[in-house]
Amino acid sequence: MTEIERLGVVGGGLMGGGIAEVGARAGLDVIVCEVDDEAARAGRSRLWKSLNRAVQSGKITEADRDAAQSRLLFSTDLADLDDRQLVVEAIAEDEKLKVDLFTRLDEVVADPEAILASNTSSIPIAKLAGATKRPAQVLGVHFFNPVPVLKLVELVPSLLTGEQTLARAERFATEQLGKQTIRAQDRSGFVVNALLVPYLLSAVRMYEGGFATAEDIDDGMVLGCAHPMGPLRLADLVGLDTLAAIADSMYAEYGEAHHAAPPLLRRMVDAGLKGKKSGKGFYDYS
Ligand code: CAA
Ligand code: NAD
Repeated sequence: MTEIERLGVVGGGLMGGGIAEVGARAGLDVIVCEVDDEAARAGRSRLWKSLNRAVQSGKITEADRDAAQSRLLFSTDLADLDDRQLVVEAIAEDEKLKVDLFTRLDEVVADPEAILASNTSSIPIAKLAGATKRPAQVLGVHFFNPVPVLKLVELVPSLLTGEQTLARAERFATEQLGKQTIRAQDRSGFVVNALLVPYLLSAVRMYEGGFATAEDIDDGMVLGCAHPMGPLRLADLVGLDTLAAIADSMYAEYGEAHHAAPPLLRRMVDAGLKGKKSGKGFYDYS
């Protein structure tokens, strides 16, 4: 089986942009598909900024940046993904949107051996595989935020994923992108979010209940447990809309109180306070 040369990414937000960036930096030809021109322009500008940041910190040269940019194309037409060998879906954490997208991707991507992967944080892969006629080529390939920095990729086969698909995705993540993988069963939240999300939600409840200030909750975990950032700042980094959506699918799967989104989290999302990406969440980024 050939290595991946042509990568498609659907959704050019926080995660899709990061996945596209590491793909292009690894020498792949990458097409990023967004909903409209404005979203495509915003995604492209974030990605260019991130590449410039990598130049400034000495991780890549200006020539590397220019070469990566020349391998990246932004589109608003899903049909442009017809020749892709692997497509990673990174749209909003919404089961219906993702199921619709997998149905369309299955129609558009011509190579019957091409892999359709999801970067979902919590939605069962079997539900996405069931929307296609190629369930053996569907799996979860779950990256971590920020993608250019964090080493991990969780590989999540569904009950229907083929061995060859899993092996090919493993080679893509490790040999081509230089990531490290772990494998997880197809259960909402997989390994990392099953542990992380109840912790983040507990921090929101603690803040909501007036136990301590946001700064003190975060300092507690940074200074007391050597975490790189505290849970409320991390919730802001993930995106509060995304965190609430992950909580909803984990609650639907397990029905446990510690997966329920606290009212304050929902109200902040209702108010447009989505964390760092919107300029304000538990902290102000303006
Ligand atoms: N994109 C690219 N590079 C970035 C970046 C970004 N968004 N943010 C930081 N970096 C790079 C910086 O360029 C810097 O690189 P150098 O050391 O080469 O200069 C390095 O990361 C450190 O950055 P900073 O000095 O600016 O900041 P920091 O030391 O505070 O680190 C951080 C920032 C990398 C975000 C760090 O705080 C961290 O790792 N936090 C935890 C993140 C985490 O837990 N992510 C998982 C979220 S859960 C998830 O992803 C799963 C899900 O489904 C929700
Ligand atoms: P985001 O809100 O930053 O970006 C989502 C992007 O998808 C938006 O730019 C939106 O315009 C685009 N989009 C929506 N519907 C689309 C469609 N039909 N076609 C093309 N583009 C479409 O979200 P994100 O944080 O990048 O999360 C994306 C996925 O990755 C989610 O499933 C999320 O759970 C998962 N994830 C998120 C994180 C995180 O820390 N934010 C980490 C790992 C995984």
